[in-house]
Amino acid sequence: MRTILPAVYLLLVVITCACSKKEKPAPPEKYRPQFHFTPPQHWTNDPNGLVFYDGEYHLFYQHNPFGNTWGHMSWGHAVSRDLIQWEHLPIAIREYPDPATGDSTMIFSGTVVVDTNNSSGLCTGPNCLVAIYTSHVHKNGTGLRQHQSLAFSNDRGRTWQLYDKNPILDIQRKDFRDPKVFWHAATSRWIMLAVVPDLFKVQFYASANLREWNLLSEFGSAGDTARIWECPDLFSLPVTNEPGTSKWVLSLSGSHPQGPTYVGMQYFIGDFDGTTFTTTQTQTRYVDHGKDFYAGIVFNNVADKSIMLGWVNNWAYANDIPTGSWRGAMSLPRMLSLAQTPEGARLKQEFWPIPDSLKMPIDWEEIFSGSFGLEATLEDGGTLELFKTETQTTQIQYENVQLSLDRLKSQPLHFHPLFPSRETVDIAGRPAAITLQVVVDQSIIEILTADGLYAITNQVFPETNGRIAINAKTRIAKSWQWRQ
Ligand code: FRU
Repeated sequence: MRTILPAVYLLLVVITCACSKKEKPAPPEKYRPQFHFTPPQHWTNDPNGLVFYDGEYHLFYQHNPFGNTWGHMSWGHAVSRDLIQWEHLPIAIREYPDPATGDSTMIFSGTVVVDTNNSSGLCTGPNCLVAIYTSHVHKNGTGLRQHQSLAFSNDRGRTWQLYDKNPILDIQRKDFRDPKVFWHAATSRWIMLAVVPDLFKVQFYASANLREWNLLSEFGSAGDTARIWECPDLFSLPVTNEPGTSKWVLSLSGSHPQGPTYVGMQYFIGDFDGTTFTTTQTQTRYVDHGKDFYAGIVFNNVADKSIMLGWVNNWAYANDIPTGSWRGAMSLPRMLSLAQTPEGARLKQEFWPIPDSLKMPIDWEEIFSGSFGLEATLEDGGTLELFKTETQTTQIQYENVQLSLDRLKSQPLHFHPLFPSRETVDIAGRPAAITLQVVVDQSIIEILTADGLYAITNQVFPETNGRIAINAKTRIAKSWQWRQ
């Protein structure tokens, strides 16, 4: 009896635990965003191959299938019908070391296009998906080379075949990467942009079949060259307050507005005639003033919108963020347009709408989860604090026509010396008050203000959820919480 009783007790405990586990959904992992994309496990950096095809948005992403830091780069894959809820799919593109030569290839950033008329000749049906990416080759003997390669899928992106004549574009450089390819309707041909990062140059190529490419022109160096250029994109956007007008925008990843210790994104507004990009812009413009928005590119094959996703992280500390089984996230998708302002044309951003069925209107004082949204108006001296407890606070402030997001005290202890920071941006036109759209998702804060002319995206890693606090100069007009 003495030996049986503890065994029966143990059995009961195990059964009870198993049953109660079934009833309750597992609580979200600490810091894991709920309405931002994160990989099921392991590392991600840049979004890749963003494309809409056959009712699905595809997100491919720089992924290490073996660990939580950068390495073994492959293309992870997920699809979504609403850009908020993602279905994870098996790894799309990877290469194994060549046993004969010992060469190893990593799959770096790139594009996916819908080859609508089978221009590549690689489609088994009327159309297919074609990926053009950088193969980062470590050659036994000669060292590193980067060139552009091709893969294709005839089953809605579920499986991919590497083109047997890879690479398709090689300029014999160690650094030459991040191809963005799109269909240019006016000249009826494919256009590719790729960067020569250390020369601060974007090269433009054209092709009729996605396999053979001719150099058209180069842009750069220009704007901010404090840090190498990566992940270029080019898209045409409407000027919302000049109906009937549109302009081309060249976006690039590189240095941060606060200097090259951190990475960030800049953009140029100009014209693209199918061969050359030109701009008269004299001021350097940044896509986001936070520390955590990088490698953003827009979806291909979305007829009436330009939707950008960025990687919410910064190379300065990306490999050290204190998340659990995964590392890295994507921003909320952002719809882009332009506005003509007294300082010239500027980029405008708008958050992609989260379906009403996934959020619950709630008074801001009752918000208890770490995933929510707010619309707040701050007069001069207005403050809005998030995740506030006795030992931590993240403060948003509007003072002397400057918006700031301060994460210096966002957690009791910081995991990296470059993480504590305060982001600031001067708001043009000296408005007496500004209205902020704020989304907060466990460890991500994204802010848009002044009708989308300014964005600040930052990660925070608070110990606990804490509460929201405002001062007398701040009003919260709308608030919602993510439905779990
Ligand atoms: C940008 C980047 C790209 C490259 C990829 C490698 O974050 O450095 O230039 O293709 O990451 O993972």
